[in-house]
Amino acid sequence: MRIIIEKDYQTLSKKAALILASQITLKPNSNLGLATGGTPLAMYKNLIKMYKKDEIDFSKVQTFNLDEYCGLSESNPNSYHYYMNHNFFNQINIKKDRINIPNGNAKNLNKECREYENSIKKAGGIDLQVLGIGSNGHIGFNEPAKNLNVNTEIVKLTKETITANSRFFESKADVPKRAISMGIATILKSNRIILLASGKNKAEAIKKTVSGKISTQIPASLLQTHPNITMLLDQEAASLI
Ligand code: GLP
Repeated sequence: MRIIIEKDYQTLSKKAALILASQITLKPNSNLGLATGGTPLAMYKNLIKMYKKDEIDFSKVQTFNLDEYCGLSESNPNSYHYYMNHNFFNQINIKKDRINIPNGNAKNLNKECREYENSIKKAGGIDLQVLGIGSNGHIGFNEPAKNLNVNTEIVKLTKETITANSRFFESKADVPKRAISMGIATILKSNRIILLASGKNKAEAIKKTVSGKISTQIPASLLQTHPNITMLLDQEAASLI
């Protein structure tokens, strides 16, 4: 596990954007695994800036998002479809048919999960996966539990995650209770992973992820088994390690 500690959120985000940019420069048809949440927002802003300066070409890139809420339409501003289009895809030259996000509104959600997993396989796997982390140590929507999902599955969100994510919704009651998420093996099969964490509220989860025992109660701790993972932290997130 490689740990990089940056001064603050802005420098961490620039660094993350540079890592993605160099991946795309080295392999223009890269398969990128992408994350949502507040943390990667400035990374996306930096990538858009680089695209506008002609420094990156996304035309051959294919993307796979980690997760999506169940039951929100793509036009719902709280869906991850909307988030990705609004904050990133609509502002770069990615081809629409190379964007993959689980459909949380599919009639048959189990089938959707299987097909999503297969589409990653068919594409040849993920070259670079970007992750955030929940304050309870979740990655994607893989919540702390006795058993974790291997592949893409429907997951039940914990109270803690519903509370944490309610800041984006009008009320806590509006937060979906279920989501589709890549499983732990889906994530660990990526060639390279970068996990971004910023702020004091992530410090405890980061401590348990990097220096605790590997436990399904801290899903991110399983990343310790990955041969090519970079933890990109700001000083606050790194304050307990
Ligand atoms: C959500 C997402 C995760 C993300 C986490 C942390 O639950 N499913 O992929 O890492 O939130 O979000 P934030 O970056 O807003 O703290």
